Amino acid sequence: IAQRTYLVGGELLNWDGPVTEVYSTISGPGQYKPTHLGSIPDMGEKEALEALDAAMGAYARGQGAWPTMKVRDRIECMEKFVRQMEGKRERIVQLLMWEIGKSLPDSEKEFDRTVEYIYDTIEEYRELDRNSAKFDKHQGVYAHIRRGPLGVVLCLGPYNYPLNETFALLIPAIIMGNTTIFKPAKHGVLLITPLLEAFQNSFPRGVVNILFGRGRAVAAPIMQTGKVDVLALIGNSKSANALQEQHPKSNRLRLVLGLEAKNPAIVLPDADLDLSIQECLAGTLSFNGQRCTALKVVYVHEDIREEFLERFASAVDALPFGNPWDPGVKLTPLPEPGKPDYIRELIDDALEKGARILNEKGGEQTDNYIWPAVLYPVTRDMRVYREEQFGPVIPVLSFREIEEPLDDMAESNYGQQVSLFGKDVYTLAPLIDTLANLVCRVNLNSSCQRGPDVYPFTGRKDSAQSTLSVHDALRSFSIRTFVAFKDN
Ligand code: G3H
Repeated sequence: IAQRTYLVGGELLNWDGPVTEVYSTISGPGQYKPTHLGSIPDMGEKEALEALDAAMGAYARGQGAWPTMKVRDRIECMEKFVRQMEGKRERIVQLLMWEIGKSLPDSEKEFDRTVEYIYDTIEEYRELDRNSAKFDKHQGVYAHIRRGPLGVVLCLGPYNYPLNETFALLIPAIIMGNTTIFKPAKHGVLLITPLLEAFQNSFPRGVVNILFGRGRAVAAPIMQTGKVDVLALIGNSKSANALQEQHPKSNRLRLVLGLEAKNPAIVLPDADLDLSIQECLAGTLSFNGQRCTALKVVYVHEDIREEFLERFASAVDALPFGNPWDPGVKLTPLPEPGKPDYIRELIDDALEKGARILNEKGGEQTDNYIWPAVLYPVTRDMRVYREEQFGPVIPVLSFREIEEPLDDMAESNYGQQVSLFGKDVYTLAPLIDTLANLVCRVNLNSSCQRGPDVYPFTGRKDSAQSTLSVHDALRSFSIRTFVAFKDN
């Protein structure tokens, strides 16, 4: 795909400037060699500021424009968009597999989940409008209260869910009447291109503006103007902080952020071993651990440690590795070229400080892949304990007293979710209450995850700002306004 158009102010503009080549880390047969997939425009400040002008113009335009448009008209635009998107399923699923190495079933799930999310958001928006636009009266003052947009939203999504999580930001922002500038993630960028026309012909000009290029070149100049009202980003806090700092009045910015997490699994002595091993396997390694919700550290009680680890380590080695379209594949090539080396560094650091690799294949490198290493005993001075690995390496600690993992969680910079495995309700009940005050979701006898998308998705401390979900995202991208009048 040689992508040469971008969407600004309702026009699909032609690009004749520099381009960035896009490669897949999935190799053809023979010796390992990344596959060339295409190229995208490498845009800069000029195009970024044009997109900002278009978004601001669309927000400020008079009556009948997007922010003041009737609810049913905005819904009609969104329905028109999603119907066209449904026709692109096969193409987008193919690109998900090639660009980010996501398995076929997971790529299909990402697409279908996104379509469902859009339809659910439309329904929720109808419901919100019915319930939130109402009259009230207190102390002789009448109020007509409603929910309105915030302004211009800059939206940046992650590479691990380049469609689903990006749209989990973009769709609610748009439907609430905001205008948007959106730059796709570095990996998973081409899969947005089949949707450019659908965006163009579904929404009024300037409501959705789509740019390509590096975040520093495109997003930073937009932030520097101080004219962005919402920074919506799923990714890492380094990028979020850097962009926030660019904004001259950052205290005015609404932040909708989904950031890092280091979700622990805590396996109690009475846990069902089959179930906890199966859930820890999915939790640590689904999509190679490249999920913010992945289990990134496992605490096992000393009484069951030996059996748990022996069975867990052999289950890891039994996972099938291959290309995303191979039937039953669980482990696939990593989309970031330097990632196996980074994971190797974490493993070496842990080995130097006294950990062992428990599984035979742990750390083996093939092409752009490194086999998941189960590391034990991990200590708190190791990088793999402190850093969000976001990849295939599993640090394990054992504990005797429950205070050990609880103290770690209290000290952690993150607070998204936890998985708790055990049976005795008298132990679990008080523990659940404690855990719920350290994170935002306690998963009982199951691995951590974001879905179903009707449930709140958020985190404490450095893990998130604002809440996403079909219900909450509409609120995160809006503000309650009202008209007041007196009973004269
Ligand atoms: O990367 C973070 C995502 O929110 C994970 O979503 O739990 O549905 O895989 P998921």
